[in-house]
This record gives sequence, C-alpha cells and structure tokens, in this order.
Amino acid sequence: MCGIVGYVGPRPVIDVLVPGLAHLEYRGYDSAGIALNHGNSLSVLKRAGRIADLRLLIDQESLDDAISGIGHTRWATHGAPNSGNAHPHVDCDRGVAVVHNGIIENWAVLKEKLIGAGHEFESDTDSEVVAHMIEDMGDVPLAEAVRRVMNQAEGALALAVMRRSEPDVLVGARRGSPLVVGRGDGENFLASDIPAFLEHTREMVVVDDDRVVELRADSVSLTDLEGNAIEPVQHKVDWNFEAAERDGYPTFMLKEIYEQPHAIADTLAGRVSPTGQVVLDELEIDGRMLRAIDKVFVVACGTSYHAAMMAKYAIERWARLPVEIDIASEFRYRDPVLDSRSLVIGISQSGETIDTLAAVRYARAQGSLVIGVSNVVESALAREADAVLYTRAGPEIGVAATKTFTTQLVAMQLLGLYLAQVRGAVDPGAVEVLVTEMLRLPDQVESVLSTSDAIEKLSRDWTDTRDYFFLGRSGDFPVAMEGALKLKEIAYVRAEGYAAGEMKHGPIALIEEGVVVVGVVTDSHVRTKTLSNMEEMKARGGTIVLVAEEGDDVGNVADHVIRVPAGPDLLCTVTAVVPLQLLAYHIATARGMDVDKPRNLAKTVTVE
Ligand code: F6R
Repeated sequence: MCGIVGYVGPRPVIDVLVPGLAHLEYRGYDSAGIALNHGNSLSVLKRAGRIADLRLLIDQESLDDAISGIGHTRWATHGAPNSGNAHPHVDCDRGVAVVHNGIIENWAVLKEKLIGAGHEFESDTDSEVVAHMIEDMGDVPLAEAVRRVMNQAEGALALAVMRRSEPDVLVGARRGSPLVVGRGDGENFLASDIPAFLEHTREMVVVDDDRVVELRADSVSLTDLEGNAIEPVQHKVDWNFEAAERDGYPTFMLKEIYEQPHAIADTLAGRVSPTGQVVLDELEIDGRMLRAIDKVFVVACGTSYHAAMMAKYAIERWARLPVEIDIASEFRYRDPVLDSRSLVIGISQSGETIDTLAAVRYARAQGSLVIGVSNVVESALAREADAVLYTRAGPEIGVAATKTFTTQLVAMQLLGLYLAQVRGAVDPGAVEVLVTEMLRLPDQVESVLSTSDAIEKLSRDWTDTRDYFFLGRSGDFPVAMEGALKLKEIAYVRAEGYAAGEMKHGPIALIEEGVVVVGVVTDSHVRTKTLSNMEEMKARGGTIVLVAEEGDDVGNVADHVIRVPAGPDLLCTVTAVVPLQLLAYHIATARGMDVDKPRNLAKTVTVE
C-alpha cells in the first residue's frame, strides 16, 4: 500500500504535502515524492527512502509559487523501491503528474499500446501508464480523462492526478484503495487517510469505489465513471489528532500497547446489557437468520488470523456451531462448500486487506451471510459485508498489530457469546458470568502492563538469541502464534509458534541449549499437558519461560515465569498476549530495530 496526499489552495503547497506525507508514512516508506503545479510548469521531486530524505531535496523558495500539488509515499509492488520508480510519475511532455496506490492489473497491455503510439516510459511501474494515457487523450478535461482511465484500468487503485494546463484542479479516483477528501475553507485536500489533513480540517468526504472527484480551492465535485454528478456526503472526524500522534511514547507500538485497556473498554462499551447479556443490535441481522446458520467460516490474515483461531474455540464452545478457519489468501482456492446457511466472518483491522476482501466477496457470491470485523469505520470490508462489528481501538500506526489484536479477540468473544445467546445454546447465567469477567479485562491488562520493566530486564539476556519457540494448546495456541509473529516481524529473529503437543512430531529436534521456549499455560483444561510438553523442551536444553496465571503452581519446569491475572479460559487470551507483545518490543528495541516500521512490511496489504 502507499500513501497519497493532494492539496489545492492558498497555503504554500509543500507545507501541506510534506507534513501530510509524514503522517501517512505508516502506509509505505520505501520512497517518497511530490509534484507541484506552478501553472506554466510542473516540478517533481522524488527519491528512494523516507520523507526525511525527500525533505533534503526541497528548495522551499523556488517552490513557493505552486498552486496545487500531489505527494506520495510508496510501498513497492511493481518495480524496485528506487528513485526512478518513486511517484509522482509524469507523461512524455511533463504536463501530467500522477500518484497511485494499488495495482493496475492490465498495465502491461496498456503500456504496450502506449509505447506503440510513441510514448516513452521512464519507470518500471504500472502507475506511469496513467500519465501517458491522459497525455494520449489530448485536450480532454482532466476529470473526464481520469474517468476514461478508470474505465480502462483493471484492479484496485486510488489516484491523484494534476495537469500543468489546469493548475487549480486536482482530480482523485478510487476503486478498492482508500481515498478521502478533506474540505477546508477556500482550500481542499485529498488523501489516502485522514491524518494527512487532520491538522487543517475535520470535515471529510469519503470517495466511494468507482468515483472520480474534482477538487478546486472552493469546490468538490463527485461523479461516477459515466460523469453523472453525485452529491458528496460530508462527515465530521471526531477523533483528535493527538490520537494519531505518539503522545510522549518513544514509539507508536509502545503507545498502542499501553492503549489496550482503553481500547478494550471502548470495544465492550454499550455491548453488554445491565443483566449481563451481549447486545449486538448494531449487526442488524434477524435472529432467525442467525438461528438458521449451520456452519461458520472465519477468514483473516496474519495477526487477524490468530484472532480467528481464538474465534473458532469460542464459537464452537459457546454457540455449538462447527467453525472452519482459513488464511484468507487460501480460502477461495480450496473450493469451500458454502451456501446460504453459512456464516462467513472476515476479520481485518484495516478492512482493506485484499486477500480478506476477496474471500468475503467470494462468500457473498455463494449466498453466504458475511460479517466483517474491522477497526476502520467505512473500510472496504465494512462496506462489503452484510453486517459489521467494529473494534474500537482507534488508529493504529505501528505496523505490528497490538491493540487491534486484543480488541479483535474481545469482539470475537462478544460475537461468540451473542451467537450462543441468539441460538439458545448457552444459559443466560453462564453468559452473565463470562461477560462480567470480560468487563474486568481492561483492568487486568493494565496490571500486566505494569510488569513491562520486569519483562524488559528478563529480555536483556536474549538480545542476541536467534531461536525461539512459542508453544500453547487450545486457547493458548493462538496466543503463542501471535507471540512468535510479533517477535519475528519486529526483532527479525526466528520464532516458531507451535501447538505444544505437536512438537514431539518433529520440531523438538531443533531444541538445544540456547533456544528460548516460551510456553503459554493459561487455558485450564490443557495446562498440565502443556506443562509436561515444556518438561520435554527443558530436558533438551531449552531455556523455559512460562506465561501463567497468578496463583497457578507451575512446579519447577520454568527458568522464568511471567504472571497474568487469572480468568476464564479463552478470555485469558487477551491478557496472556500482552507480555508477549512487550517481550517482542523489548527484544527488538534492544536490538536497535525500528519497531514502528519493520523492514519489508506495510500496515495494510492491498496486493495478493
Ligand atoms: C502483524 C500484522 C499483520 C496483519 C495482517 C492482516 O502484526 O499486522 O500480520 O495482521 O496483514 O491485516 P488486517 O488485519 O488489516 O487485515
């Protein structure tokens, strides 16, 4: 994914674009660039690296007369992450500049045609075709030219385009990749995400799929791809800018780990009745439909998939419905047997992950009921699903998911209990007991956070350790998987998440002195089994760390024990994962890694 920003108005344009891009860096950061429209010329500045590198190219004075501009921060999909492939891209005559997020799937065909017509390309990107296509159309108004591009280009894309001969116009278009307009007073903004313009305006318009938007300093006009006018719907952004800033923490990731008590409380808010039952009226699904469901599929990627793993246990245990879970990118390709009695739950914090979107689209095409679980209001997943359950974690800037994961766990526990309630699979008294315990989770997570210093101290011994295993069974298994993923992605060390009982079938061969083995033992009905699996690891020389409930006598298998508050099985996943987030964080920072922007990763993955 990439970040797009655009501005038309009276301010010095670079003073809007560059800070705007800095707020979008979490969307991609392998190269960055801006194009400014001076009326008689376009200037393009771009280079590999981060926004800070781009700033070095800027000679403010010579650029101060710009009337409008566009900017881009890139995460490479087509073409290496170098300066030549950085956006914006221009046509042969340097009359059109384009920034693009997504993939133009038929770019090769389009490019060949343009080369045949005499166009010369400078980059290896799919995006450059857009500039040449517009040039090729001749004297067509820019908004119309972009509509024609959208009608020819296949795939998911968001564009911001400008033309030297129309300096007071900026055109945006969207299909699949996010795009929003910020409306100011005598100025307007275009961006992939709200933080890019939030310091200037809180008034925004979401650009829907297959829409083209034309911005001038004093107007915003929206059309469909045939050019029919569409009334823009304006919303007020009600989260404040500080929510997207670091707030005094050294990194976004740490800030977001510490925001978890609040985020969990927000996710529970208003979803529990005074009698301790789950209230999810927001789903607006008729109870009869939910009672008719005979199978559930949960699809997600990465960390969200670990929430899906927990969801399987929760829904099967509480609602007594069979559940299959799938890595979203695999789902369609196994011909899953779906029909109108299937419920498909797509979990995606961003709501933009293309694999998850494709999986839910596939499910809807089979007539299945789709519930989306997303942290982003109005995300593509939210809009494509029949119903949506929002986690309310607030913006998550750190690439590694933390608060969005724990809130996904909570949302899936609520959904599991809700299905159980509606289907009469569980006694209201039992729901009340669990829900009462859920309401304690924010305080419990707070108490785990207070052990951060002890975890940091513990982790000092392992700064140079290269091999870790994270083991658990039942509800502890997804926690172990998530602990391993966090460590891999931010500390760049090998960490395997495994079902503890499966180690003896092969991976135990890797256990030797120097390997750190973290066992999660909070799920009461399997803890003794996991503990004996940990004995097997200890016998092979592994350093044993346990995540165990307070008061649980875990014997003397462990070299170190990290305590979390006691609670019911499955609910404990929420508290048990927090020390593993902290462990990964402390190891990664001790190793000098940029935890907010781990190499090779992007916050939202909009390519297959
Ligand atoms: C890991 C991480 C990724 C995402 C995955 C799915 O920390 O963030 O594994 O969980 O890319 O993203 P969403 O939830 O946005 O679909």
